Amino acid sequence: MTTVGFIGAGRIGGTLARLAVEAGYNVVLSNSRTPKTLNDQVAALGEKARAGTPTEAATAGDIVVVSIPLRAYPTVPVEPLIGKPVLDTCNYYPQRDGQIAVLDTDSTTSSHLMAKHLIGAHVVKAFNNIYFKNLASLPRPAGAPDRSALPIAGDDESAKAAATTFINAIGYDVVDAGPLEAGRMFQVGTPAYVAPYGGPDNEAGTPAGTDTIRAALQAAKQ
Ligand SMILES: NC(=O)c1ccc[n+]([C@@H]2O[C@H](COP(=O)([O-])OP(=O)(O)OC[C@H]3O[C@@H](n4cnc5c(N)ncnc54)[C@H](OP(=O)(O)O)[C@@H]3O)[C@@H](O)[C@H]2O)c1
Repeated sequence: MTTVGFIGAGRIGGTLARLAVEAGYNVVLSNSRTPKTLNDQVAALGEKARAGTPTEAATAGDIVVVSIPLRAYPTVPVEPLIGKPVLDTCNYYPQRDGQIAVLDTDSTTSSHLMAKHLIGAHVVKAFNNIYFKNLASLPRPAGAPDRSALPIAGDDESAKAAATTFINAIGYDVVDAGPLEAGRMFQVGTPAYVAPYGGPDNEAGTPAGTDTIRAALQAAKQ
């Protein structure tokens, strides 16, 4: 069975870990502290979950989710992620992350910064545009009329295929926005960012299907 490694196990990482376990995946959680600080979280997830260091989570994962404050991206282990799909949930919030000049000038994207650091990994931008409580409440079985869709962007087709399999398994359809550069269409401040699914003022969430997300991505181009 596929193992999903988690570098960061907070609101988004922790929510994804629970959805992954419910879908039958094994998970390895990590944070910036010691694995034992994740004992309660791992116990709540059951026998498919364990804790490790970021290097252990990266090594164990067939797919690895990086879900940390963006400012911490230079600490993500590089070598164990070579050749692997890495799902990057991170967003740039200067008030939390500090000013990052190349993002302030829009000369690159947060996912390109991650990819530049993770030489040899196949970074796919995913899960960055949905509020964590909506992520928890909106999964639906395949084919359900109110199933929501999540956009992805990445330069490696096999990594996007792996991301698509995972996202489908945890209850969402996928809209492939294109190469990593297309992640701009669902980064912070775009029409596809958070609002289509409800956001913090609507914790139960509003289903946003493929057509809705495609339209939101299209609107970002205009
Ligand atoms: N919250 C949302 O609804 C949401 C939605 C979409 C995307 N995002 C983005 O996803 C990322 C994570 O957001 P979040 O809300 O889940 O954050 P969070 O609740 O603060 O969780 C962050 C996690 O990362 C860990 N961490 C911090 N520095 C680390 C490091 N250097 N190495 C390994 N783990 C580290 C933290 O654990 P310790 O501090 O204990 O180490 C914690 O487990 C952010 O970039 C955010 O902008 C958030």
